[in-house]
Amino acid sequence: MERITSADEVPEQGSYLFTVTEADGSEEEVILVRLSDGIGAWKNFCQHEIDQRLDRGVGNGAAIRDGEILCPKHGSSFDAETGYCDNGKAAGSTLAAVDIAVNRGDVFLTDDDLTFAHEGGIDDGDMPGSTSHLSF
Ligand code: FES
Repeated sequence: MERITSADEVPEQGSYLFTVTEADGSEEEVILVRLSDGIGAWKNFCQHEIDQRLDRGVGNGAAIRDGEILCPKHGSSFDAETGYCDNGKAAGSTLAAVDIAVNRGDVFLTDDDLTFAHEGGIDDGDMPGSTSHLSF
């Protein structure tokens, strides 16, 4: 169980973006969103077009309206609690869930298939001054 961030870092209207490593070594983005009674976590892509991010890494992250996460491309909205979409191009689909737990004000990754990589999107892993991509 790895700590992701403090629950306070998850915006009221928006999302907290971070990157995980899958069992096969590939990276994937995940968003944390506020629910009426806690915090939910979803993979950061739309079910209509899987290369469309919900949180594009700008501002407060994903657009949230009335407890729904809005896809920025065609405007389908996903229930932030269940991930289910009943409208627009993505109707009938459900966001990919990620297992987390909140304990004493911190958010932890509890998904057995995933390892916490870093805060922010996949591209944010290459910090200025980092030589990680040159050290092979
Ligand atoms: S890409 Fe999200 S609704 Fe089309």
